[in-house]
Amino acid sequence: MTLLRHLLTATALLGASAQAATGVTGSAFGFATGTTGGGSAKAAAPSDITELTTWLSDSTPRVILIDKEFNFIGSEGTCSDCECCKPSSNTCGSSGQNAVKQNGSDWCGSYPSLTCTYDNAAIEGLEVASNKSIVGVGSSGVIRGKGLRLVNGVSNIIIQNIHITQLNPEFIWGGDAITLDGTNNVWIDHVKINLIGRQMFVAGYEPSHHVTISNSEFDGQTSWSATCNGHHYWTVLGYGHNDQVTFANNYLHHTSGRSPKLEFNSFWHAYNNYWYNNSGHAFDVGENTRALIEGNVMVDVNIPLLADSNPGAVFAVNSSDVATCTKALGRACVANTLISSGSLASTNSSVLSSYPSGESGVTVKSASQVASSVRANAGIGKLGNGSGSSSTVAAVAATSAVAKRAGPDGDAPFVPAFSEAGPGASAVPSQASWSWRQVGTNGPVPSGTPSGAPFAPFGGPGPQPSGHGKHHGHHGHHGHQGF
Ligand SMILES: *[C@@H]1O[C@H](CO)[C@@H](O)[C@H](O)[C@H]1NC(C)=O
Ligand SMILES: *[C@@H]1O[C@H](CO)[C@@H](O)[C@H](O)[C@H]1NC(C)=O
Ligand SMILES: *[C@@H]1O[C@H](CO)[C@@H](O)[C@H](O)[C@H]1NC(C)=O
Ligand SMILES: *[C@@H]1O[C@H](CO)[C@@H](O)[C@H](O)[C@H]1NC(C)=O
Ligand SMILES: *[C@@H]1O[C@H](CO)[C@@H](O)[C@H](O)[C@H]1NC(C)=O
Ligand SMILES: *[C@@H]1O[C@H](CO)[C@@H](O)[C@H](O)[C@H]1NC(C)=O
Repeated sequence: MTLLRHLLTATALLGASAQAATGVTGSAFGFATGTTGGGSAKAAAPSDITELTTWLSDSTPRVILIDKEFNFIGSEGTCSDCECCKPSSNTCGSSGQNAVKQNGSDWCGSYPSLTCTYDNAAIEGLEVASNKSIVGVGSSGVIRGKGLRLVNGVSNIIIQNIHITQLNPEFIWGGDAITLDGTNNVWIDHVKINLIGRQMFVAGYEPSHHVTISNSEFDGQTSWSATCNGHHYWTVLGYGHNDQVTFANNYLHHTSGRSPKLEFNSFWHAYNNYWYNNSGHAFDVGENTRALIEGNVMVDVNIPLLADSNPGAVFAVNSSDVATCTKALGRACVANTLISSGSLASTNSSVLSSYPSGESGVTVKSASQVASSVRANAGIGKLGNGSGSSSTVAAVAATSAVAKRAGPDGDAPFVPAFSEAGPGASAVPSQASWSWRQVGTNGPVPSGTPSGAPFAPFGGPGPQPSGHGKHHGHHGHHGHQGF
């Protein structure tokens, strides 16, 4: 008994130190292929949040081990009696989300003002410099109360096996978990994100070339829901210009929108992801963006693909077009599987003919393996679980909709109070009150915006008419909070 326990302990330590010695497990694939992060730098664990902050932002290539919880809550003080507003989406009081009034933004418009208390640290993420690996050890690596910001041209960064949580989840604009804004070669792998005020992931507006987001868990369960139903709305936002993103083997559950919302001339390859219980929309693919969506499973996803007013090109593979890829890509694509979900029908083959180069190491599994393998492997503490079992999803129907789920209001499918714009769009203040319109946009907001979506989805400028130009909108004197 004692001997056995010692043996087990020794084995566990061996496992931990094997990981500690090498830092990153596996290697980057997809568009982020070649990303090495801190490379062979000696792996080391910072002692506290101050050292972590320094190591993340200095110019030394590093393999930074996150071997415990780094708690930033309170580290920059609390904003008490600060300015917030109550958007019209918050019809449920303390189980909804109010919004922090950001410096330099008029997102709150004429919504009723109120005072609120929030933690300052979460408002802006930790700066991450080039050539870093940020690697959680076992299931211990937690960053609480502050996200990560990869901006201003940084490159070659790996974020693996960490949990980012508790960024003022009560408040829209309370904080973003991972921000990319002008990067190259970033691999985000086995990360878990939950309880975030605003975006779990956001890229834009500057190009973020060569990104892979893999094996990660986006857990939308919250007690403060912008859609008033316990689901998080602000999940994944791809607003970069000319990003190339591989999005694979991820688990997105209990969300209610933006899972993901993509716009502005980027290319996304989403495969073998598992969506579960999304009360709103999964994909919203807008202006000039191209998305190849294959080998995914969606269960209980109300709107797999939102009708965008200015749609990009989507090739979502179903069983009748698995072979369409062969000519363009030299391989068959893999059909998606939808169960108790709306429809995911779009086969614009210009996605295939304009496929960017540079994505490698991709093997798309059959959708029948996805749910079990994603559940076993996505998120923190699962680095050793291999590529997952091959057990199949029970009762996998052919593609397409099986009885679209009724919404909380009764028979009609649930449509959030704000379609995509942001909360409360059905009772939006008059446009004249939105000063960022003058500040942030170079032209008129395109006509044909979906009903109830006349204002910017991220508090910055409205959708860009031409997909061209840099619009940092209301970035204000902090110059950061853009989404
Ligand atoms: C606004 O600026 C003040 C002063 O710089 C800062 O303390 C506060 O955290 C900022 N608030 C937001 C929401 O950015
Ligand atoms: C990152 O590492 C590469 C390869 O060693 C080096 O060429 C580059 O200058 C480094 N970048 C920064 C910003 O230090
Ligand atoms: C989806 O999530 C909601 C809220 O957590 C829950 O009430 C509902 O039962 C879930 N639906 C399914 C099909 O799991
Ligand atoms: C397919 O997408 C391209 C943009 O890549 C667009 O020009 C074209 O109109 C789309 N075709 C259809 C049928 O929607
Ligand atoms: C596949 O997609 C096409 C075009 O969207 C649609 O007509 C067809 O019914 C779909 N097939 C299946 C099996 O869902
Ligand atoms: C993944 O591996 C970890 C560590 O071995 C284990 O605790 C966990 O149960 C595994 N998860 C699944 C879903 O198999």
